[in-house]
Amino acid sequence: MNILKWVFTILIVSLLKPQISIGVSEISQEFLEFAKKDGVFDWMVGIRRKIHENPEVGYEEFETSKIIREELDKLGIFYKHPVAVTGVVGFIGSGEPPFVGLRADMDALSMQEMVEWKHKSKVPGKMHACGHDGHVTMLLGAAKILKNHTHLLKGTVVLVFQPAEEGGGGAKQVVDSGSLENLKAIFGLHVSPGHPLGQAFSRSGTLLAGSGFFEAVITGKGGHAAIPQHSIDPILAASNVVVSLQHLVSREADPLDSQVVTVAKFHGGGAFNVIPDSVTIGGTFRAFSKESFMQLRQRIEEVIIGQATVHRCNATVEFSTKAKPFFPATINDDGLHRHFQKVAGDVLGVENVKEMPPLMGAEDFSFYQEVMPGYFYFIGMKNEKNGNPASLHSPFFELNEDVLPYGAAMQSALAVTYLLENQHPGTPVSEDHDEL
Ligand SMILES: *[C@@H]1O[C@H](CO)[C@@H](O)[C@H](O)[C@H]1NC(C)=O
Ligand SMILES: *[C@@H]1O[C@H](CO)[C@@H](O)[C@H](O)[C@H]1NC(C)=O
Repeated sequence: MNILKWVFTILIVSLLKPQISIGVSEISQEFLEFAKKDGVFDWMVGIRRKIHENPEVGYEEFETSKIIREELDKLGIFYKHPVAVTGVVGFIGSGEPPFVGLRADMDALSMQEMVEWKHKSKVPGKMHACGHDGHVTMLLGAAKILKNHTHLLKGTVVLVFQPAEEGGGGAKQVVDSGSLENLKAIFGLHVSPGHPLGQAFSRSGTLLAGSGFFEAVITGKGGHAAIPQHSIDPILAASNVVVSLQHLVSREADPLDSQVVTVAKFHGGGAFNVIPDSVTIGGTFRAFSKESFMQLRQRIEEVIIGQATVHRCNATVEFSTKAKPFFPATINDDGLHRHFQKVAGDVLGVENVKEMPPLMGAEDFSFYQEVMPGYFYFIGMKNEKNGNPASLHSPFFELNEDVLPYGAAMQSALAVTYLLENQHPGTPVSEDHDEL
């Protein structure tokens, strides 16, 4: 090798490396300052309240989608629409590789908001009780930050506004649409009412469980409640089914392999003195590994049908995977975990970046992780004035709007630094000295 070239390359590497890494830390802090500026913060609050007042459930996010596209138009950001019915996929940067994704879910829940405030949901029976109004706003915030710093973008950031996270598996539809084929990695976040504002939480490997839903109809023979011998009682049969289902986790699963079976729905009968014809039950099951998950699925069906038979009833079991697809477990890539720790440390301060244990909750973000390395994390928003905040999915849930700049800065910083650190091999940023 030409010795001069070698010396020159070493010089370039040593000159550039510290500059780039210092630069990246500063960028990340600047992003947070930018997002906290009045003009940017107030703009985000306005968008969030507009979406909050008009919540839309999975695959019906038409107005939300429109708000997103209007803001992207104003920012001069090119996008694809529709993706998976209401989804929007925006592009910022060079249009060249590498491509890195940032994802926000758009849908609300079918529940009545109980918080009395100026921007309460205007749609009876629908509410943003899971913070997705905030997630959309943070991604628009990230878009604004990125647009203000396009000179830093060494590649393309793909903004994924996704419908139907709450059971509808919108992420799977976005993946199936083929819109994300060039992506090398994707980041997603969730607000957390129980964790302090300004802190971020996650872990490498398994973070959230795989999740499925089941529904069963247990059919007997209705009749007079005082003459049970002429009926076949589906209430008693279904009650025994519920009890037997509890044995799947307590008796059949490895105690060290966390699993959940919950019967959350039990509908049957309408009068004090009538044995009904049938009872409908339904619930969810969770596990971290695919094997445990499929084992639960099989045993839930066997137990319901078998236990119904014991009581002379018939049962049909459905997993309704069309409407509610099984979610895989959310498993964070280890390389992205290290990236997250570094960037979150720069944005929030290292003392505000925490490891967390896995949860049995589920996220359809896992569908992205099935096709590319992905990273999901939680961002704290516990309001100092409110010591005991309502949980996600509570009708009293409140989003602390102070979290918006943190999410916007985190997402944009993760993307910008990911692109800088994932340039084509052989550029001076590479750690790989063999290439010299
Ligand atoms: C970035 O934002 C600042 C302050 O909000 C503004 O003055 C500046 O013109 C923006 N720059 C770009 C390139 O958008
Ligand atoms: C269960 O199904 C069998 C076979 O179709 C039928 O003969 C029987 O009457 C059913 N029992 C009840 C309780 O519906």
